[in-house]
Amino acid sequence: MEWKIGNVTIPNQIVVAPMAGITNASFRLTAREFGAGLVVCEMISDKGIKYHNEKTLGMLFIDPKEHPVSIQIFGGDKESLVNAARFVAENTSADIIDINMGCPVKKVVKLDAGSHWLLDPDKVYDVVHAVSSAIDKPVTVKMRTGWDDDHLYAVENALAAQEGGAAAIAMHGRTRAQFYSGHSNWDILHDVAEKLTIPFMGNGDIKTPEDAKFMIEEVGADAAMVGRAVLGNLWKLNAMEHYIETGELLPEPTVREKVNIAKLQLERLVDLKGEHVGVPEFRQQAAYYLKGIPHAVRTRAKVMNEDSMQAVFDTLDQFVESYEQREARSPKIS
Ligand SMILES: Cc1cc2nc3c(=O)[nH]c(=O)nc-3n(C[C@H](O)[C@H](O)[C@H](O)COP(=O)(O)O)c2cc1C
Repeated sequence: MEWKIGNVTIPNQIVVAPMAGITNASFRLTAREFGAGLVVCEMISDKGIKYHNEKTLGMLFIDPKEHPVSIQIFGGDKESLVNAARFVAENTSADIIDINMGCPVKKVVKLDAGSHWLLDPDKVYDVVHAVSSAIDKPVTVKMRTGWDDDHLYAVENALAAQEGGAAAIAMHGRTRAQFYSGHSNWDILHDVAEKLTIPFMGNGDIKTPEDAKFMIEEVGADAAMVGRAVLGNLWKLNAMEHYIETGELLPEPTVREKVNIAKLQLERLVDLKGEHVGVPEFRQQAAYYLKGIPHAVRTRAKVMNEDSMQAVFDTLDQFVESYEQREARSPKIS
């Protein structure tokens, strides 16, 4: 089902979470083609924008075919975040600008950025108000439920962001202290979804089409934001979208189909970053694609040592051929 963030139409209720080192323009385009309604870019530093760091500016590239797209910024103080938002609004075709208030990593938190703001709803209001007043594009905020279990201001912070002018909120149901341990608390997400009047994207531990549907129908989110479950599994986006719309589960793709998606992702990454950056960056993605497929251990190790796109393609193709031959030989039990 179509929905809106401000004046931007999002064609369906599956959103891919921002993931540093992963949700670059090539990944986003492929994820959109495989069923995501929106993909948030990897977090971009306000300081990198301020100092026109070459790598940071490169991360702002948007493919004309990937709209709608949301660019996430993170930063140390209100002024530099406002300046970064202005820069992105004026110099890119981003449809939405997202503020990262959930990043738990030390190098971000120590700047008084990321999830640190979650200790004080007034600060959340202040930052969101400053950024949303400075630009015309819709501003969204991605946050965690709180700093730790003693400072769970999920509802207060979400309402503060809404008051400050946010057009939508995404929340990961873990505290900063949890990092990725424990479970995403969907009860808290439910409380937040009930209180907000702006759209809400529920995030954390959505792994299956059933989870995505539950997030929308039971938790009450307007969209299911999915992160780790799509790594090596881009086809799941379409499966989730289809299940939400129809209640029907799609069959898993074959190994050949999975490998073809992996190859497409590598090809796009090489187009974006060149072979010497794209191939090494892809190695981790290849491992995700091959995870859980029997007899893939040696292929995984081999891809880790390949330096050219063609060599990775050849290794993957050889794997598919021997996998299919093995399957054809194995007796079928019916
Ligand atoms: C590799 C990786 C990189 C991430 N980078 C970001 C980021 O740049 N910005 C952000 O707000 N969250 C980031 N996150 C958090 C995810 O957006 C998401 O909130 C989290 O993974 C929980 O969702 P999931 O259980 O569906 O993975 C990252 C997560 C992972 C695994």
